Amino acid sequence: MNQNGTGGPAGPKILSARFDRTDGHRLAVYEQEGGYQALRKVLGGMQPAEVTAIVKDSGLRGRGGAGFPTGTKWGFVPAAAEQVYFFVNADESEPGTFKDRYLLDYDPHQTIEGTIISCFAVRAGLGFIYIRGEFGWLIDRVQKAVDECYAAGYLGRNILGSGYDLDLIVHKGAGAYICGEETGLINSVEGRKGQPSIKPPFPAVSGFLKKPTIVNNVESVASVPWIITNGAAAYRAFGTEKSPGTKLFSVSGPVKRPGVYEIPLGMPFRDFFNDVLGGMADGEELKAVIVGGSSVPVLPADEIMNCNLDYESLGAAGTMLGSGGMIVIPKRCDMVELIQVLMHFYWDESCGQCTPCREGTGWLHRLVKKLRRGEGTPEDLERIEHVCSGMAGLTICPLSDAAVMPMRSFLAKFRGEFEALVQHPAPVAASSRWPRGEQE
Ligand SMILES: Cc1cc2nc3c(=O)[nH]c(=O)nc-3n(C[C@H](O)[C@H](O)[C@H](O)COP(=O)(O)O)c2cc1C
Repeated sequence: MNQNGTGGPAGPKILSARFDRTDGHRLAVYEQEGGYQALRKVLGGMQPAEVTAIVKDSGLRGRGGAGFPTGTKWGFVPAAAEQVYFFVNADESEPGTFKDRYLLDYDPHQTIEGTIISCFAVRAGLGFIYIRGEFGWLIDRVQKAVDECYAAGYLGRNILGSGYDLDLIVHKGAGAYICGEETGLINSVEGRKGQPSIKPPFPAVSGFLKKPTIVNNVESVASVPWIITNGAAAYRAFGTEKSPGTKLFSVSGPVKRPGVYEIPLGMPFRDFFNDVLGGMADGEELKAVIVGGSSVPVLPADEIMNCNLDYESLGAAGTMLGSGGMIVIPKRCDMVELIQVLMHFYWDESCGQCTPCREGTGWLHRLVKKLRRGEGTPEDLERIEHVCSGMAGLTICPLSDAAVMPMRSFLAKFRGEFEALVQHPAPVAASSRWPRGEQE
């Protein structure tokens, strides 16, 4: 197993079969290994509703963070819709998350085949792969793969003689975290500010150009060809009843073998940590883990060690599977410093249209910074909670909650580290003041 490893000695390779190769991005290699056979099967006589039913039966849940069932989402497109759009979300700006770029880099055709099948299932005539602007090399790679598909007759008019027409555009984002949120993404492609819209209406009913639009994560879409080829039951043979299939985890932090791994959902964290990651690097001790990208609550070592890596088990433990961007935190890490870095990120990336998020993220960042300057008071810890309660669930999109969840959990689980910074309360006059005017 190398650093592009693929999950456990005997792990299934639904998504990562070509991660260890240097030529897996080529159309010829993908075709030799069975690529585009699922598309042939679909266009060889299946109906869109049949494709949707298989994906629904597989239990595939969206891998972009929320875990919403993919087939169910596709089913929301009104049957009478004449114009439907499909977006593959490859914005991948969530700190700690770097799995989608692997899929697109090592194996772009798997995602493209999944996209064409998904577009057919929802009857879309135009699809987009929306890639984060900073991923310059990836945009070239995916564009070349799309060009290969047009030349091979997998895209364009009358695909494989089926009468189905589809165009696929590789769209370069401008590098804003908020454009990963599906309505922010759609607005930005329409040429407007990349700011989320109020839901409902959901994009499946009124999205791009006010037409029904499906937005799916890269990993969700990349799972589709395997499901079509092997069937829903085969997919359900991996994972748990409510969290079927396999999932990619991108692991960063001082473990022996960081990287991107595909594992069946439900694997005990302990086994993943010891057997796949090899445990902590020499001289390091495990302190905590943020399991699903920086927006989910942190779990201390003793809590995560008793969890399984699936939606339900992590939910029961008070966190979320999220994107699978796993950040392993060593004992030596100063948790207040880490949350300051994260709060800076959310403050910087807030699009600013909702006051609780625009102001709240700034307050959280300034309060944590004040603590770290040694000027914090016991009241500041209460203020952090006060600010959080004015943010959670009160905004158009969940970016605000994405800041609150780590903030609250860091404070709850590692309160001692915060209190250690306020053990010498400042004079009353100073403690009643709120920190102001700091830009970072
Ligand atoms: C601030 C923010 C950033 C997001 N970034 C991404 C992203 O980079 N990639 C992604 O797939 N989903 C992201 N999402 C979730 C999307 O809004 C959407 O739920 C997802 O693309 C749907 O795909 P799925 O159903 O396949 O998971 C983000 C959400 C928020 C609130």
